[in-house]
Amino acid sequence: MDQIRLAAAHVEGVEGFLVEVEVSRSQPSTGTGRTTVVGLPDAAVRESIDRMTPALFASGLSHRPGDHLVINLAPAGRRKEGPAFDLAIALGLAATMRENQLPTLPADTAFVAELALDGTLRPARGVLACAIAARAAGLTRLVVAPVNAAEAAVVDGIAVHAPANLAECCRWLRAGIEHAPRRSAGAEVETTLDSLDLIDVRGQEHAKRALITAAAGGHNLLMIGPPGSGKTMLARRLPGLLPGLTLEEALDVTRVHSCAGMLPDGRGLMRQRPFRAPHHSVSPVGLIGGGSYPKPGEVSLAHHGVLFLDELPEFPRLVLEMLRQPLEDGHLTISRGGGRLRFPARCMLVAAMNPCPCGYLGHPTRRCTDGADFVHRYRSRISGPLLDRIDIHLEVPFQRPDIQAAPAGATTAQARDQVATARTRMLDRQGCANAVLDARGLKKHLQADDAGLRLLTQAVDELGLSARAYDRICKVARSIADLDGRERVTLEDLSEAIGYRVLDRPA
Ligand SMILES: Nc1ncnc2c1ncn2[C@@H]1O[C@H](COP(=O)(O)OP(=O)(O)OP(=O)(O)O)[C@@H](O)[C@H]1O
Ligand SMILES: [Mg+2]
Repeated sequence: MDQIRLAAAHVEGVEGFLVEVEVSRSQPSTGTGRTTVVGLPDAAVRESIDRMTPALFASGLSHRPGDHLVINLAPAGRRKEGPAFDLAIALGLAATMRENQLPTLPADTAFVAELALDGTLRPARGVLACAIAARAAGLTRLVVAPVNAAEAAVVDGIAVHAPANLAECCRWLRAGIEHAPRRSAGAEVETTLDSLDLIDVRGQEHAKRALITAAAGGHNLLMIGPPGSGKTMLARRLPGLLPGLTLEEALDVTRVHSCAGMLPDGRGLMRQRPFRAPHHSVSPVGLIGGGSYPKPGEVSLAHHGVLFLDELPEFPRLVLEMLRQPLEDGHLTISRGGGRLRFPARCMLVAAMNPCPCGYLGHPTRRCTDGADFVHRYRSRISGPLLDRIDIHLEVPFQRPDIQAAPAGATTAQARDQVATARTRMLDRQGCANAVLDARGLKKHLQADDAGLRLLTQAVDELGLSARAYDRICKVARSIADLDGRERVTLEDLSEAIGYRVLDRPA
């Protein structure tokens, strides 16, 4: 009996883990032997065994399909899904045949790729997470499909090799894999958001200012306005206003996309903040993540970026309610069979809606056809607890299309500098963005002047501000002062922030 052991890797949720593949081969005394795969494989893993024989023969390797073959995937307690073990299993099978003259397979190398029937290596999902897991386990080498090479090579301290097919992989192993060509991190992922500039939005200075404030303090934002007033246009420009991703954040973003199978082929690191705009027909699993082999949902794909919910009242209440936990905690947990999976979900929420079902309430020239009752019902579709998590709600009014660009209009680059300076002030002062200050931190760092405090008291009396609206206003005012470089929060900052609470006022 011949036994071979080698390393593969796999993802569960957005975390990678190492899998040890053991292959044992023995000749049956009579007839044809059985092939058994153990270690919680799913149907796709079992099916991969059928691909082995043609792939091995097409690669010029010896194999006796009629032997007793046992393939064990450890740890046995974790489910193994999909075809990413193909390469490791094929190499294990090949190595149990002396005719193939394969050396002892290197213990410091993990093999992660699917095989085509002709032996070609195909990409696997979540290779970046696998590379991180391999490095954490002390491995130094990863063999993947060429399409995955740039992604895997993003991780420092792991040598990446990407043979075109199984035959080439065997040649490299015979010659010593350490001599095989190493791949480097390839081109970074480009996004079309790059070309979107704030300067292209004519007018709407009030909304732009709110957008910049939201970016600075990390505040969630809701825009209310008639069709065509520029809400979607503004939202799309938010990722460009946020400070650039750190390397650690870029790795996180790339890993989530890779585990969802959404990293563009052949690309490495995602350097831009994501912008996700799911349609209102999105399912709970689509938005939050999950499924029998849980994958990240939209809120995780928006990690470190922007989740944009256009036409907010059209989203089913049930779906919106599910956003509460991730918006609060910056991550979410999904229970499944044996345990709980954790998905990252720290994003800014930007939502847009019309003021009423027909869209024209408050329009200067068009008549709104909805009754007050209808408008009320439309707005109440957004649940209080979700609204609770939105610091800024502002009107984006109708604007004449022939308005000239305001001469003072900032470009995205200028606004981003302003945002970065304000964010640095916050981090130096309190170690976090204003939006995530807790009650005690807010009290300590608000530093409102006397006139400002009087205005707040007046607003509580006259507008009947709730405690929660009060806190939101203070946080946003703090961000406005930070944008303008002021230690103290003034009357003007607070009155501007009160202006960003449209929905606290009666419709
Ligand atoms: N302020 C603006 N400056 C320049 N173009 C604008 C502006 N507002 C709207 N537009 C033009 O109108 C189009 C529609 O704008 P946008 O999609 O942002 O509107 P919206 O407020 O999201 O509307 P809806 O409520 O229908 O979703 C844009 O693609 C753009 O061409
Ligand atoms: Mg829109």
